[in-house]
Amino acid sequence: MSDPIVIAVDGPGGAGKGELTRRLAQAFDFDLLDSGAIYRVLAYAVRKAGLALFDEDSVVQEAKLLNLSFECLDDGVHVLLGGEDVSSEIRTEEAGANASKVAAYPSVRTALLQRQREFLKEPGLVADGRDMGTVVFPKAQVKIFLDASADVRAKRRVLQLKQKGKQADFDTIKKEIEERDNRDRNRPVAPLKPADDALILDSSDLSIEEVFQAAVDFITKKTGLKLN
Ligand code: C5P
Repeated sequence: MSDPIVIAVDGPGGAGKGELTRRLAQAFDFDLLDSGAIYRVLAYAVRKAGLALFDEDSVVQEAKLLNLSFECLDDGVHVLLGGEDVSSEIRTEEAGANASKVAAYPSVRTALLQRQREFLKEPGLVADGRDMGTVVFPKAQVKIFLDASADVRAKRRVLQLKQKGKQADFDTIKKEIEERDNRDRNRPVAPLKPADDALILDSSDLSIEEVFQAAVDFITKKTGLKLN
C-alpha cells in the first residue's frame, strides 16, 4: 500500500494558511493538523499554571504533559485543553506572540514532534504550520509555502478583528506581525523558511479562490489526486 499523502502548508501568520488548509482538507477529504494551535495551547497552559514563558524547563515539562485535543463542530475545529474549550482564548494577538516564544525552544519542539506526526493517517493529512515541510514531514509529497507582505497581512488581520467587533490599530498589528515573523524566521531550530522543493505562493494580490486553485493545480500535478 502507498504511504498516506501529506500536503504541508507553511508560511507566516496571516498569509491565509488557515482558510487554504481548511478548504484543501475538505476538498480531498483529508484530516487537518493546525500545528500553530498546539504552540498556542502550550503557551496558554504555561500561563494558566502560573509558570513563566521564559523558563524553558517548565515549558518543556508542560509540553510533555499537554492534555490537548481537537474537536470538529459545525462552526469549525475547537481546541480543548484538559477537556476545556480554549479556542477563543488562544486566538488573541497576545496568545500568538506567546506561542512564538515557547516555539523558539528546541527542547519544546522535540517534545511536540511525535505528537504532530501521529496525526498522519490514510488517506492523508493537510498540515498547517511553519516547519511542516522542513522538519515534521520532510518527505511530504506536496509542500507549499504561502507568503504575503506584512502590510497585506496586517490589513487582513485588522479587518478580521473589526468584523469580530474588536478594536484594531493597523500600525500596532503590523508591528506585532513583524516581531513574530522575526522571532519565527531567526530562531536556531526549525526557522520559518520554505523547503527547497516547496511551491512558493504569494497571496498578497490573490483572492482566496485564486490561491486555492493554484494549490489544487500543484497538488493534482504532484500526486495524481482528483478533487472530490
Ligand atoms: O500559525 P499560528 O499563528 O497559530 O502559530 C502561532 C505561533 O506558533 C507561530 O508564530 C510560531 O511561532 C509557532 N509555530 C511554530 N511551528 C509551527 C506552527 C506554529 O513554531 N509548525
